Amino acid sequence: MSKVVLVTGGSRGIGAAVVSSLKDCGMTVYAASRSGKVETEGAFGVVMDVNSAESIASAVDRILKEQGRLDAVVVNAGNGIAGAMEEYSEEEMRYQFETNFFGAIKTINGCIPALRASRGRIIAVTSVAALLPLPYQGLYSSVKAALQMAVKAYSVELKPFGIQCCAVLPGDTSTGFTAARKFSAASSSVDSPYKERFDRCIAKIEKDETGGMPPSRIASAVKRQICRRRMKTTVIPRLDYWAIGLLVRLLPERMVLWIVGLLYNS
Ligand SMILES: NC(=O)c1ccc[n+]([C@@H]2O[C@H](COP(=O)([O-])OP(=O)(O)OC[C@H]3O[C@@H](n4cnc5c(N)ncnc54)[C@H](OP(=O)(O)O)[C@@H]3O)[C@@H](O)[C@H]2O)c1
Repeated sequence: MSKVVLVTGGSRGIGAAVVSSLKDCGMTVYAASRSGKVETEGAFGVVMDVNSAESIASAVDRILKEQGRLDAVVVNAGNGIAGAMEEYSEEEMRYQFETNFFGAIKTINGCIPALRASRGRIIAVTSVAALLPLPYQGLYSSVKAALQMAVKAYSVELKPFGIQCCAVLPGDTSTGFTAARKFSAASSSVDSPYKERFDRCIAKIEKDETGGMPPSRIASAVKRQICRRRMKTTVIPRLDYWAIGLLVRLLPERMVLWIVGLLYNS
């Protein structure tokens, strides 16, 4: 029986590549986003805002009405706001946590009753930034680390129901994420004591992202997990990023932070 999968942030970037890759191997795929756009022929577009529990409930209801089941959710919708930790306004902090954390949790919780029935799967797209405090992306790193831990907590709590959970951690990937990034007003101001370092770091981060791997690389990793009998709990696509993950675990923390500062000239 073809698996039925809901992908959030499915209109472009990594989510659109996941939709295409799952559809290619015969799955029934719902691509959710605020625009409801879908690139892949044969996949279903869903207008859904991950920050609205009602919107999530109506998307899940539609899938259950149309397909009678939901086998997996890929929690991928996300965004970034760059700034110095000291300078984020409360509104900017809430913006960073809204979609990436609360939206992800609301989506997972909205899908769990259906996943319990199918003994289904949850895949969250977090980031290698969850392992390292990227300078001037500190809130983004924090929110992805929070989601990373939440996935592990779900994994323990949902095991008795046969639901498997996995976090996929992309490194730099070339998508619309870079253009969509917002900037903290205070850190962008000429009066900011961080201004010069902030501009230098963001230029490097943007260069790394635009020259990053294609979203199809992350999509293959997601597909592989959905197709496996037992999912891994954490997956870091591409050997170099996987090696970074290993080094972070092996090296003393002080050395890791020193290397991060050196790499980003922060
Ligand atoms: N690109 C990278 O280098 C990179 C690296 C590590 C991790 N990631 C993570 O990968 C995920 C996908 O990012 P991407 O690079 O593919 O970015 P992207 O190209 O900007 O795509 C973001 C997707 O999220 C959707 N979205 C945003 N807010 C939403 C909301 N409130 N409700 C529903 N959908 C929403 C967008 O569609 P609408 O605007 O139509 O809603 C779009 O489909 C994110 O979680 C990101 O943090 C990206």
